[in-house]
Amino acid sequence: MSKEGKMNKITKATILEMKKKGEKITMLTAYDYSTAAVMDEAGIDMILVGDSLGMVVLGYDSTLPVTMEDMVHHTRAVSRGASRAMVIGDMPFMSYQASVEEAVRNAGRLMQEAGAHGVKLEGGREVADVVAKIASAGIPVVAHLGLTPQSVHQLGGYRVQGKDDAAAVRIKEDAKILEEAGAFSVVLECVPSKLAAEITESLEIVTIGIGGGVDCDGQVLVVNDMLGMFDKFIPKFVKKYANLNVNMKEAISQYIDEVKSGVFPGPEHSFK
Ligand code: KIV
Repeated sequence: MSKEGKMNKITKATILEMKKKGEKITMLTAYDYSTAAVMDEAGIDMILVGDSLGMVVLGYDSTLPVTMEDMVHHTRAVSRGASRAMVIGDMPFMSYQASVEEAVRNAGRLMQEAGAHGVKLEGGREVADVVAKIASAGIPVVAHLGLTPQSVHQLGGYRVQGKDDAAAVRIKEDAKILEEAGAFSVVLECVPSKLAAEITESLEIVTIGIGGGVDCDGQVLVVNDMLGMFDKFIPKFVKKYANLNVNMKEAISQYIDEVKSGVFPGPEHSFK
C-alpha cells in the first residue's frame, strides 16, 4: 500500500527493483477470475496465465493444442480478478514462431484485448528477434528457457535440461541474448540449481525458477499442482500446499449423499 492507502500496482519496474533489493518475487499461474482474485488479495506479485491451461484446465495431454483464442479468453478473466499483481499472458504454440509480424500482433492482442501487462514466450536465441520486436512495441517480455513444454517432441520428453557442460553453456548464452534482446525476466524450468544460480548472478533481469532451485530471483508454480487439484502427474519441483483434490471429493460426496437422502436443501436454504 502507498502512503495514501492506494494499492501499489506491480509493474516491470517494481519487479526489476525487487531483484536489486534482493527481495524474492512470487508468481503463480491462474486461468480464471476467482482464483486470480484470491491470489491478488493474498499478495502475489505476478500471475501467469500459462498455456499449462491446456493440461490442467482443458484436459489436453500437452500444451500444443492451446490457441490464441483460449489464451485471450482466460487472460481476460484473470485480468478482471487482479488489481495489484502483474498479469503475464503466455503466447501459445504457433502464435510467435511463424513470423515476427504475427508474433507482435498476437502479443498485442494479449495486452489490448485481454488486459495482460506483459507476455511470455518459450525459446532461446532463435526467438531473440521476436523478443526484440515485441519489447520495442512497449510490451514487457518474459522469456522461458530450460524445459520448454511447447518443444516437448523435440526435447524427447519432460526432463531436466542443461545437465551436460555444452547444454549448460548454451542455456547461459541464451539467457544473456534474451536479456540483450529486451526481455525483463526469464523463467528457468527444470535446470540444475547451480546453473540457475549462475544465470541469476550473471543477469540484471529477473530469473523465475520452476525446478530451478532456491537461488532464482523468484519462483513460479502451476496453481493446480501446488493446491493439490491436479494429481495425474506431480513433478519433483512441486510442493503441495493443500490437498484440494481430496477436499473437493469429500465435499462433493457429502453433497451427493445429502441430496439423495433429502438432508439438503434444509429449511435454511429454502424460501417461504
Ligand atoms: O504454462 C505455464 O504454466 C508455464 C509455467 C510452468 C512457467 O509456462
